[in-house]
Amino acid sequence: MKTALITGACINTGVDIVKKFASEGYDVIFTGRNMEKVHAKEKEYREEFPNVNIWGYHIDSLLDERTVDEESVEKMFAEIDAKGMFVDTVILNAADQGLGMTIFENPLTDLMRVINTNVVWNFCIVEHASKRMIKNGGGNVVFINSNTAYRAIPDRIAYVASKGGQLGLMRALALDLGKYNIRVNAVLPGMIKTDRWDKNPEFYAKVPSRFTPIGDVAVGEDIADAAYYFAAHARNTTGAELVIDGGNTIQLYPIVPEK
Ligand SMILES: NC(=O)c1ccc[n+]([C@@H]2O[C@H](COP(=O)([O-])OP(=O)(O)OC[C@H]3O[C@@H](n4cnc5c(N)ncnc54)[C@H](OP(=O)(O)O)[C@@H]3O)[C@@H](O)[C@H]2O)c1
Repeated sequence: MKTALITGACINTGVDIVKKFASEGYDVIFTGRNMEKVHAKEKEYREEFPNVNIWGYHIDSLLDERTVDEESVEKMFAEIDAKGMFVDTVILNAADQGLGMTIFENPLTDLMRVINTNVVWNFCIVEHASKRMIKNGGGNVVFINSNTAYRAIPDRIAYVASKGGQLGLMRALALDLGKYNIRVNAVLPGMIKTDRWDKNPEFYAKVPSRFTPIGDVAVGEDIADAAYYFAAHARNTTGAELVIDGGNTIQLYPIVPEK
């Protein structure tokens, strides 16, 4: 039985990733920060997918803005070991979105918080997962990155920096872990429809990311399919990027619809 660890999977894209892997017969361990939400989601997933094992784990990346909670990652993997489970696939979906961050207003600790979650914590998870993968003959890691790793967006300084850093981390890990039969790849979404669309429909009706060759943005299932491709099919692929942004980043200027 294959087992995927999927981070940040109580809401939005993470939910679609859990559903994709569970529907393909994977056992799933997913994370969220809030114990009650994790338990509620675990119940929901188990009802929808009675034929696979689904286990929710509540974990926060940080002790404080400056400090990644490495001990909790160790504890999570020790508990997974104690259950006799082996995580052969890690999908790093959780992210601090670092919304509304401007150069002169925010304290340095805001930058630290976002980089610590999106880069350092993810490294820590891969470190602990890959030790087990080596013993078990290999595995694979998929980062849910962002096309902002290449093209910046306004007021998201820490997020953009973190996604660029994350992509460098992905390549370095792919290089160092390949010899252990561990593949490491990244999905680069553009904009994804999430519950934030429902909360702010006017803003999202006008978002420039819609002005792409395809003319629309991704849904969570698109990202889940790409993550599943890397995990389950891409036997000879490592250090690769799959951009899911409707062609947004290949343009010199946005294609603005006439109406
Ligand atoms: N949405 C987009 O338009 C878009 C575009 C490009 C790339 N992406 C990337 O795609 C992925 C999913 O995006 P999304 O919009 O679905 O994400 P989201 O709705 O913001 O959810 C993020 C998840 O990350 C978890 N998380 C946040 N801070 C955390 C922390 N300090 N420790 C542990 N977990 C933490 C959250 O946990 P809780 O449930 O506990 O809050 C949540 O489950 C992210 O990596 C994002 O950067 C998204």
